[in-house]
Amino acid sequence: MKFNLNEFLLAVSFALDFVEIDIAGRRTNHGKRVAYITLRIAKKLGFKDEDLYDIVSLAILHDNGICEANNDVIHDKINDKEHAMEHCITGERNVENYPFLRKRKNIIKYHHEKHDGSGFYKLMGHEIPLMSEIICFADFMENGFTLDKMCDENKRKIEQFVNQQSGKIFKTEICEAFLEIAGSTSFRLDLGDNFINAALDQYTPQYTVELSLIDIVKMTDVFSQIIDSKSKFTRKHSKGIAEKAAIMSDYYNYGFDEKTRLVIAANLHDLGKLAVPNSILDKSDKLTEDEFDIIKSHTYYTRVALSKISGFEDITEWAANHHEKLNGFGYPYGKNASELDFNSRLMGCIDIYQALTEERPYRRPLPHDKVIGIMQGMADEGFIDKDRVRDVDKVFQLNN
Ligand SMILES: [Fe+2]
Ligand SMILES: [Fe+2]
Ligand SMILES: [Fe+2]
Ligand SMILES: [Fe+2]
Repeated sequence: MKFNLNEFLLAVSFALDFVEIDIAGRRTNHGKRVAYITLRIAKKLGFKDEDLYDIVSLAILHDNGICEANNDVIHDKINDKEHAMEHCITGERNVENYPFLRKRKNIIKYHHEKHDGSGFYKLMGHEIPLMSEIICFADFMENGFTLDKMCDENKRKIEQFVNQQSGKIFKTEICEAFLEIAGSTSFRLDLGDNFINAALDQYTPQYTVELSLIDIVKMTDVFSQIIDSKSKFTRKHSKGIAEKAAIMSDYYNYGFDEKTRLVIAANLHDLGKLAVPNSILDKSDKLTEDEFDIIKSHTYYTRVALSKISGFEDITEWAANHHEKLNGFGYPYGKNASELDFNSRLMGCIDIYQALTEERPYRRPLPHDKVIGIMQGMADEGFIDKDRVRDVDKVFQLNN
């Protein structure tokens, strides 16, 4: 399948940026802004197109480890040293199988290394991969300054800081490249919330690579892991659904293509949950109506993100319909039976089955028979597909 990796990443990165807001208290579009600054500097330093393409991916993904790192850590400690180092390790591990155009090792692991050796790993100068150093610089500047308001006083402050740190915590060439680019009006405007997507698109070299569906599964596995690690109650949720989707596909004798696409949909079905604050996901008391409304938005976000990816039309449906119900009482659209195809119905059933067999803040995991009993009740009331419940029961009763 012809695939534009960065089209995919840009589509899903809004979800990563929501995590940054929730966990690290960042502004909106942190990852995208870091990617833009990184890209402009790399271009100035003469990077070739393939390297530019990959460094944009890496910059968008630079803090992907922050999700898992957050578990069991209290929020006000989020920026402490040890914790931050952990997100570099987790982030590197998460992208191990990501299909970059070339092999990229340790770029994310070392994205907090400083030129003078004052980073977590104490690497200095040439010991640090150049890509990591650029991302580190872009990240530091995006966190420390409002670069999209780079006028007058703020502009002087920024220039003064960069000049001071040139050759110290940051490599001189990176600082010089930045200062050359940052003076232009378009640089400041490109970084604005309304323009950052278009700006990234404008400067990123356009590549479509031929990826097998297996490569795409690997890529979406990365996101499945990030999504699952957001809450300790869903550590195996997307993975479990992907496994069950594969088993059900075999049961229905699906061909390789449909089976793999269903697995991809399973991997990404809860992508929008990255945009839901952990304070709501992990709440042990009953959710308020407002909080439940926020939860309900997650499949809307999943659809908005996936619908931007060419070739993902059916995957988008199967992923984003999983909380719709046959009788129209689902969300976020309130679709009805005629709008829900076989695999959307199946995904809805697998999601319920998986969720009920997992622990939640307010209950223990439920055994197979109890889960099927609940699902049959839902089918009797017209919410979900009776035949799919029967099949799920048949296939999974032996495993439990
Ligand atoms: Fe970071
Ligand atoms: Fe960051
Ligand atoms: Fe969901
Ligand atoms: Fe789910």
